[in-house]
Amino acid sequence: MPRFYITTPIYYVNDAPHVGHAYTTVNADALARWHRLCGDDVFFLTGTDEHGAKVAEAAEEHGTSPKDWADTVVQRFSSAWHDLDIANDDFIRTSESRHHRSVRAFMQKIYDNGYIRLDTYRGLYCVSCEDYYSEEQLLDGNCPVHGRPVVEMEEENYFFALSRFTDRLLAWYEAEPDAVRPATKRNEALSFIKGGLKDISITRTSLRWGVPVPWDPDHVFYVWADALINYLTAIGYGADDERCARWWPAVHHLIGKEILRFHCVWWPAMCMAAGIDPPGRVLVHGWLLVGGQKLSKSLVRSMAAGDGGGGDAEGGDGGDADGGDADGGDGGALRLTDIAPQALTRDFGVDATRYHLLRDVPLGTDGDFSYEGMVSRYNADLANNLGNLVARVATVVSSKCAGIGPAPDPHSALAAVASEVVSAVSAAWERLAPHDALEATWRLIGAANAALEAAEPWKADPGPAVDVVLGDALEILRLVSLLVSPAMPTTADEIWRRIGLTGSPHERRLPADAAWGGYPGGVQVEKGSPLFPRRKP
Ligand code: MSP
Repeated sequence: MPRFYITTPIYYVNDAPHVGHAYTTVNADALARWHRLCGDDVFFLTGTDEHGAKVAEAAEEHGTSPKDWADTVVQRFSSAWHDLDIANDDFIRTSESRHHRSVRAFMQKIYDNGYIRLDTYRGLYCVSCEDYYSEEQLLDGNCPVHGRPVVEMEEENYFFALSRFTDRLLAWYEAEPDAVRPATKRNEALSFIKGGLKDISITRTSLRWGVPVPWDPDHVFYVWADALINYLTAIGYGADDERCARWWPAVHHLIGKEILRFHCVWWPAMCMAAGIDPPGRVLVHGWLLVGGQKLSKSLVRSMAAGDGGGGDAEGGDGGDADGGDADGGDGGALRLTDIAPQALTRDFGVDATRYHLLRDVPLGTDGDFSYEGMVSRYNADLANNLGNLVARVATVVSSKCAGIGPAPDPHSALAAVASEVVSAVSAAWERLAPHDALEATWRLIGAANAALEAAEPWKADPGPAVDVVLGDALEILRLVSLLVSPAMPTTADEIWRRIGLTGSPHERRLPADAAWGGYPGGVQVEKGSPLFPRRKP
């Protein structure tokens, strides 16, 4: 059975989860679900990055210890992922003892292999980035990413000999052209390597909140040096070698573009230094941005209202939602990082939120996030197309077939359309293009709606001609339920149930169960309330 191991970045617990985090996590979840549907052995990991100056600073600001702070914020992440129907197999926290054990084992290996040395480091450090900058990289003397002042640091640090891996990294990129995707990001990593690699500082003495260095307890590991190892901890590195060897070759890291250098340069070199293979795949996506568009007052209000139970929807210290009246006219009072995932799920529903994140921002490019965009996508695809098809079919089956769904025509012209769509959907997931997979699925929904409009079974007398049209439409709903299940798990179950099928689409396996003709006929079809009631634009 093929294996698929997929990871998200582990998120910092200095603040609450926002829609950007949700974007990565929903994409990883949908990919994991797709692979499960194909019968692969899947392991899906997400979690939290809890060490480092940034988290220690947030804890201090809130008058608490880093561990207590992390214990609080981690709940917000797990409840956000629960609310978004994220089916991760494990949730790793870097403060866990299993992670400390793996970090010690991995770093000791690199140390014993002779790639770590002690030296003095002087540099300009941005606490938000947990990274050093040179004078030239600063913007008006501030961090180029956060715009906040950098601090001058001088420390005795242990250094990892990254510079000694230039040739091996280049050879790896040459031998594995698909290791980093898309190609533009691969090229970015390559030019970084070709630009010359410097050794990197991997420990701190100025901080106690981290994994203690096994050979020198005055030091803790720098947060990025410990964080990357989480991907190995979760599969048993240093504890269960057999399990680790089983999963590691199947690893796929899904990450945002700003952490490319850590995953595509540092991490493969660290793996090489520890004597294991570099990660199989790094999939780099772009950013979700809030454009100049207006964000609706109801969205802002729902954010400002908190979640009413099960996790606070607001950003850490109150957010900047500006009194609940951000109409966008004031030059972006609302930032993407102010939007809690729960604000969207409360307003649109879980599956519609997931659908929007997967459908509207292709993996790899930046995309605009806007409330208006979400409403129009919802109305066009979910209310008018999918919702309408489900409602129409159930209504006509009720009036013309006494509520019993007829079987499809084995020789229907729609079978060819369905088979083309199933292939297109598979190909899209394989090339990490959920938006294309969904676009193809909606072609099938469109074909079913068009066939119904052409035949107008609601105007005809009951009989074989009507049965054939409705049987085909029901078969398409069965296929659609399977094909949308990675993106919209609850909707898929609901369609499956309404058309009279038992079990769940999540228990089915592709491609076998996506062959035309699986709808049995002779089963009760339920007319329910609208799946996606239309929203006011
Ligand atoms: N802790 C590190 C990652 C360590 S991985 C070994 C970190 N954490 S983070 O909390 O800042 O999360 C960064 C990730 O969140 C990005 O890589 C991306 O996956 C996601 N996103 C954060 N903002 C985002 C957008 N605006 N748009 C899309 N994804 C975004 O970096």
